[in-house]
Amino acid sequence: MTPRPAALLLAVALLAVAAAAAEIPVRRVDAEPAGDPRDRSWLTLPAVELRLLPQTSVPPATLPAAGHVDDRLRVRAQRGPTRLALHLEWRDPRPAKTHGIGRFADAAAVQWPLAAIAPEPAAEPPYLGMGHRGAPVEIWFWRADGKRERLAAAGFGTLTTQPGDLRARAEWQRGRWRVVIAAAADPARATLPVAFAVWSGEDGERDGLKRVTAWQTLRLDSPMTEAAVGNDKLVAEAATADAPASRPPAGDAARGARLMQDKGCAGCHAYPGNPGEPATGPDLRQAGALHTGAYLAESLAEPSRIIVPGRGYFVETEGHRASIMPPFDGSRAERDDLVAFLRSLR
Ligand code: HEC
Repeated sequence: MTPRPAALLLAVALLAVAAAAAEIPVRRVDAEPAGDPRDRSWLTLPAVELRLLPQTSVPPATLPAAGHVDDRLRVRAQRGPTRLALHLEWRDPRPAKTHGIGRFADAAAVQWPLAAIAPEPAAEPPYLGMGHRGAPVEIWFWRADGKRERLAAAGFGTLTTQPGDLRARAEWQRGRWRVVIAAAADPARATLPVAFAVWSGEDGERDGLKRVTAWQTLRLDSPMTEAAVGNDKLVAEAATADAPASRPPAGDAARGARLMQDKGCAGCHAYPGNPGEPATGPDLRQAGALHTGAYLAESLAEPSRIIVPGRGYFVETEGHRASIMPPFDGSRAERDDLVAFLRSLR
């Protein structure tokens, strides 16, 4: 059978982004972006499809729920004279619209580094799990029961509400949520790291029980203008932090797997092939899908530089936090092997 042209086109689009995390182009529009998620201006805009992974870095971890394994989130973005708007679309067979005792509503959120509104780009994005100390994130949060919040956080459990209005409109139709979240924002930079979270209320997801994407790039200086209208096709698909094909890891993953045992990592971290399932440190089962190779290498060399903000993960003395993870003191080759193994966890 010969592949249909549409399939070929998609394959080409996938190849084009294999080198890195996805770039989400922001279309510039003359009026403010439409608030209605079914508006033609949204549905004709090409979407970027991202992989949603259960949050497992900090307990309580989300275990892949039936029907929600390997979910996808479609993202579109537009920018008017004062407002930035994001259109999120995902599959959810049963909508959960009420929130109360023992009931949880569906929800979604967008985050980027808080400081990114300033022109000076940071060397690396904050910790994926809602930032870390000294590297706060801004969060736009929508929930199906009507709650909308503009928040800031510097790690799990540090949420504060932010001033400024946030508008959100959502629609559930034929098994899909479509949500537009918009607020006044005028980032001075050409690109912005951005990550997303989705909660499935009917599966009991709330707070840290959620599914997340890796950091992606919002392309604010995209040449896409009002005239450039697609036809609901994907511009890109990005599964993970950095695609397996991009930079082949220098190390050997099989040797890395053995080093996880020999170097004591297996005593603190859960990952496939480690029967102990210890929870002293974060669960690493998706480390390669959520984090870049550079972040993983740094996690080993300098555990206290970005500390995963989970309970019991660090000790604090006189306001200074130190990770309980010992810095890796093996050879360069061993570190490369470990990183190759961690990147294979996806
Ligand atoms: C004494 C327990 C302990 C040992 C041993 C240990 N770690 Fe960790 N590890 C932690 C803790 C706690 C954290 C979270 C705090 C932090 O960010 O350093 C962590 C964080 C990490 C992270 C970042 C995870 C994330 O979600 O961002 C990686 C990757 C990692 N460790 C890999 C390793 C590897 C590889 C080894 C073996 C060379 C190892 N760890 C040894 C406790 C440990």
